[in-house]
Amino acid sequence: MDIGKYKKRIVVTGGAGFIGSNLLLTLVPRYPEYFFVNVDKLTYAGNLANLKEIENAENYRFEKVDIRDFNALSAIYEKYDIGSVMHLAAESHVDRSIIGPADFIQTNIIGTFNLLELYRARFKKDASTFLHISTDEVYGSLGEGGYFTEYSAYRPNSPYSASKASADHLVRAYHNTYGLHPVITNCSNNFGPYQFPEKLIPLMIRNACEGKKLPVYGDGKHVRDWLYVEDHCEALDLVFHEGEPGQTYNIGAHNEIENIELVRLICGIMDEMLGGGPREALIEFVPDRPGHDRRYAIDSTRIIKELGWRPQVSFEEGLRKTVQWYLDNRAWLDNCINGEYVKYYEQNYTDRQS
Ligand code: NAD
Ligand code: TYD
Repeated sequence: MDIGKYKKRIVVTGGAGFIGSNLLLTLVPRYPEYFFVNVDKLTYAGNLANLKEIENAENYRFEKVDIRDFNALSAIYEKYDIGSVMHLAAESHVDRSIIGPADFIQTNIIGTFNLLELYRARFKKDASTFLHISTDEVYGSLGEGGYFTEYSAYRPNSPYSASKASADHLVRAYHNTYGLHPVITNCSNNFGPYQFPEKLIPLMIRNACEGKKLPVYGDGKHVRDWLYVEDHCEALDLVFHEGEPGQTYNIGAHNEIENIELVRLICGIMDEMLGGGPREALIEFVPDRPGHDRRYAIDSTRIIKELGWRPQVSFEEGLRKTVQWYLDNRAWLDNCINGEYVKYYEQNYTDRQS
């Protein structure tokens, strides 16, 4: 293979996860002049079946590598002469970080450090980009008003958000100390196809399909600001190409909604699509998540004004597309439900039953 003919050689970490898969499905056909290496450990959250459409593309390869393993990563960088990275690999679920934080510290902090060290060793000005994908959860929790901006203070509350905050700080330090060109994005809650059914929206869809209870934490009035995954991927493409080195871009689509209202919406859409119901009757309020952030809301002014990004999919349309995708892909969903999932579900939900 003549790797030198590709204009950019890019490692995409976590490319078999929810956002990584959507990103690769978008970028691999869009940029035949780039070579993409999907570096993923395939934890419970990674699934190569997501990538069927591109698995034989000439400009795409998969490498099963753990980003905690510096030597293995280094060999991949050598093998493909890697210049840039889109870093999505992470332990990503808050409830799992409460049950067991160790993997979050190892993957999210040490893994990011390994990638930064390789970036530092191989850095070429104007040819190397490090796109670090992070979360708005690093900013902590909002009261009833206000928005997170790129200047909001970091106040993470969960082991997950604290590990992502640590990684963000390392990335920023590598810019300030070594003059490298990383860019950071902090986005709100994503939803769409291929999201693992531990997260709110696919979990509620799956449980409703099975006639199981829909567990809403606390009073259900916690607010999340939802972003359709395809809009997020377009934003990442823009920031990768046009983001200013060392800068942070917040990404959100102003879709704030209380959890209880969202679960009711999902039930209504499913009643309409499948008949039967009302599935709202399955809602059960369960004891709250410890340290549960009350409200997230993103101010995306910078990426809109400076890079011209705009979300294209309305919340209602995105939600309908998502419900339809899970109904059309029951085999994908059923495939997630193995022994590991059942164990996690019991650990997280058994003591919560009201
Ligand atoms: P995900 O959990 O669906 O996927 C994570 C992927 O990373 C999986 O494919 C997994 O196998 C891989 N991975 C985990 N540990 C690894 C390791 N040690 N080495 C190599 N690969 C490993 O996550 P996602 O929802 O796609 O999130 C992607 C990124 O976006 C994460 O960094 C997350 O923090 C961030 N983010 C996600 C959201 C969201 O709503 N999903 C919101 C904000 C930010
Ligand atoms: P989640 O999808 O885990 O994302 P995050 O915690 O990163 O925001 O949860 C979204 C919201 O839904 C959050 O306020 C917690 C709540 N939630 C429930 O009420 N019940 C559930 O079973 C889950 C998974 C989440």
